[in-house]
Amino acid sequence: MKPKALPGFRDFYPTDLALRSHIFNTWRTVAHGYGFEEYDGPPLEPLDLYTTKSGEEIVGQLYSFRDKGDRDVALRPEMTPTLARMVAARAGELRKPIRWFSIPQLFRYERQQRGRLREHFQLNCDLIGEASPLADAEIIALAIDVMRAFGLGPQDVRVRLSDRRVLTAILRYRGVPLQSLPKAYEFMDKVERMRREQLEEFSSRPEVFAPATVLDLEEVSRIRGWEQLESELGRSPELATTAEPLRQAYQALGQMGLAEFLEIDLTIVRGLAYYTGIVFELFDTGRTLRAICGGGRYDHLLRDLGGVDLPALGFGMGDVVLAELLKEKERMPADVSGIDVFLAFITKEDLSHVLALAHQLRDAGLRVEYALSPQAVGKQLKLADARTARLAVVVGPDERSRGELILRDLASGAQEAIAQASAVEIIKSRIHG
Ligand code: HAM
Repeated sequence: MKPKALPGFRDFYPTDLALRSHIFNTWRTVAHGYGFEEYDGPPLEPLDLYTTKSGEEIVGQLYSFRDKGDRDVALRPEMTPTLARMVAARAGELRKPIRWFSIPQLFRYERQQRGRLREHFQLNCDLIGEASPLADAEIIALAIDVMRAFGLGPQDVRVRLSDRRVLTAILRYRGVPLQSLPKAYEFMDKVERMRREQLEEFSSRPEVFAPATVLDLEEVSRIRGWEQLESELGRSPELATTAEPLRQAYQALGQMGLAEFLEIDLTIVRGLAYYTGIVFELFDTGRTLRAICGGGRYDHLLRDLGGVDLPALGFGMGDVVLAELLKEKERMPADVSGIDVFLAFITKEDLSHVLALAHQLRDAGLRVEYALSPQAVGKQLKLADARTARLAVVVGPDERSRGELILRDLASGAQEAIAQASAVEIIKSRIHG
């Protein structure tokens, strides 16, 4: 039996890694543009970092085991608890608001499907120590600008935006009892995907939401856009006050010129247990893929995990769904692999000249390769083509006796003799144009 990678785990062959690097580079560039600094933490953490705060779904997917020192540990399924722990441990020394990003590899034992694997890389951008809705706008703008940096616009992706405080206030106003709120959130979260039987199951137990009805919940779930939300908020002055942070964040995003990306949608509840305020997810407009990104405000997590009361918010954006979307929208990077110059030699005596020139060209910053064993020039040039080299240099005894080399442009096939003494300068100028 040939050994294989585990299901849900990826091998990154060079072309796959080129795409991954393109994604990471773009993530880093945009995050740096917002003044975010990069951090990292351990991939293995104490199990209880997740069991207390992450929520049932993630806990059910943990890769966990007991280590040789009898500690219960887990591979990190998400970055937020690690971040909260790290910041809480040094909260006094760090200048607020903290703007940090990270690109961890995360592990979740999920059922494998399109856009879902058992490991993925996730850009995490978090802002800690700022309660203003402008911070929410900043974080959402960052997620949108990552999309824009990949060449995606509002015709391709949208942010679905909600606020747990607003949803709670509306549900309470419509009569959902306090103890039924978790069920009501579950309803909102699932309503879009719910089959008739599931809907009937909720309807068959009217006492769960009474005096509110399933009809109330369905109505709330259908609210789209600011105007529809406004008419719901008009029902009571308290509702309007609760929605003030969401309104401010929405307005600020409009002032940044990003309104076209936004959709108010109260069915965005988010599975993780720690969110407390504005929450959002980024989706492709065709809705063929799962969420590209999700996040929100989690103002109590640092207090609960580290005893430091600091407001916080952020998002996670996975590489798997993003790569699917880039392929679908034909926004993949042009092939960045390949070399600049391939050096070929005709006789054994030419080899020492190839070795010397290869080194000079590499010192000049060019990507250079040559054959590592003697072979026919034709074969060497085939390898040069396979490596998508831009130029080939042929070093032979006749040209050398005249103090020359042959330089060939592999795209056009044009060939010329150049002076051996100025070869480095000439080749450099051909590559850099
Ligand atoms: P999350 O919604 O669990 O949030 O994950 C965020 C994103 O990571 C998803 O939208 C998806 O693109 C990607 N993702 C999650 N699980 C998988 C998987 N099994 N395979 C492929 N991609 C996946 C969080 O993890 C929060 N901790 C994010 C956050 C940061 N909130 C505040 N700060």
